[in-house]
Amino acid sequence: MKKLSNAQWYEKLEKYVGGGSSTGSKRAQLLPEEPTVIVKGKGCRVWDANGKEYIDFRNGLGPVTLGYAYPAINKAIAEQMENGFVYGHPNNLEAEVAELFCGLIPSAEKVRFLKTGGEACAAAIKLARAYTGKDHIIQIGYNGWLNTIASGARLNPREESKGAPVGVPQAVSDLFHAVQWEDQEAITKLFSMYEGKIAALIVSADYANMEAGKTFYPFLREITKKNNSLLIYDEIVTGFRIAMGGVQEYFNVSPDLSVFAKGIANGMPLSMFCGKAEIMDMLNKGASVSSTYGGETLSLAACKAAIKIYQEENVCQYLWTTGEKLWSQVNNLFTKYNVPITIKGFWPCAIFVPQQGAPTDLLSRFFRLAYKNGVSLYNVSYVNYSHKEDDIVETVDRIEKAIKAI
Ligand SMILES: Cc1ncc(COP(=O)(O)O)c(C=O)c1O
Repeated sequence: MKKLSNAQWYEKLEKYVGGGSSTGSKRAQLLPEEPTVIVKGKGCRVWDANGKEYIDFRNGLGPVTLGYAYPAINKAIAEQMENGFVYGHPNNLEAEVAELFCGLIPSAEKVRFLKTGGEACAAAIKLARAYTGKDHIIQIGYNGWLNTIASGARLNPREESKGAPVGVPQAVSDLFHAVQWEDQEAITKLFSMYEGKIAALIVSADYANMEAGKTFYPFLREITKKNNSLLIYDEIVTGFRIAMGGVQEYFNVSPDLSVFAKGIANGMPLSMFCGKAEIMDMLNKGASVSSTYGGETLSLAACKAAIKIYQEENVCQYLWTTGEKLWSQVNNLFTKYNVPITIKGFWPCAIFVPQQGAPTDLLSRFFRLAYKNGVSLYNVSYVNYSHKEDDIVETVDRIEKAIKAI
């Protein structure tokens, strides 16, 4: 069959795939520099249809924490494949991996598996409503498309809707309230306006201002407790990155429920919500959450193998030290060449932030030049466990060329 180019694949995507990509944030925006499709990934590198290679820091937009086609994960999947993917009964891996998580996640007494982060957040919200008998939800950050319901909710991690999101009835939207990270005043006001009606507050972190978690999470814990509401952590980005147990382990403040997804199975489609047994048991008391593929075995086998590697090789520590090594050098380059961009936040999930007064297209220009020089970045850029010393040196060299060209 004739090989298609990046441009030809783009044409096909636009013609046949709704929205041009199955993941909104993956659709190529910065043409012609940005690859329109990736055809192969290995370790920390990916290749587009034109055969161009990139050192990749998108990592599937988060889930690939060990590396593409990571041998130990591939082996675990291949071995499980011989025994089948899904059965008509629960499987042993469900119990085994759930037990592992209960030992790993500070707030987990029971665990349940699904496929995507958004549906696991929706499940946690449903459980909170069932457990408290209340309807309203306060929401901080993006929690997946299913939960983009409030007026002003995030349509994706970076974009807010104006009014109720299109496709959501106003009456449904009115039960959700979007507030900003660290806005203690707005949260306090909502708890007083909707006194006795707030089932839960669900929070995903603001990656540029993660340090604030030190005071913000204790505040959230206290105000939810005081109002008999549940606290839900969306650990989809922070879990298996900041620490295996996410922000709850790092800041030592436990939620009632939490959600993990990206990172737990090195890119295999697996999400997990967990929490206090008493709340999780609402699953058997009418708060039904169920999916045919929930206990799919290939992802669970990958997850079990990933947990082993994380524990034996202290992967989170590696993500911190390698992230620091790379992003602090890139920050120095921005300073050296007078480019007003700063990489902020915790090193395992650092974020590019234009400085105040920087031209609005500066980040895009930088990302285009990074692609041109063979580095694939995103606003939140991640190192993975396959970015080794040489890759970091090569990345800094390529990025310096990009920054110089600005
Ligand atoms: C913090 C956070 N929560 C939820 C989601 C949704 O996860 P999924 O895309 O697997 O539904 C994302 C995805 O980017 C996310 O970053």
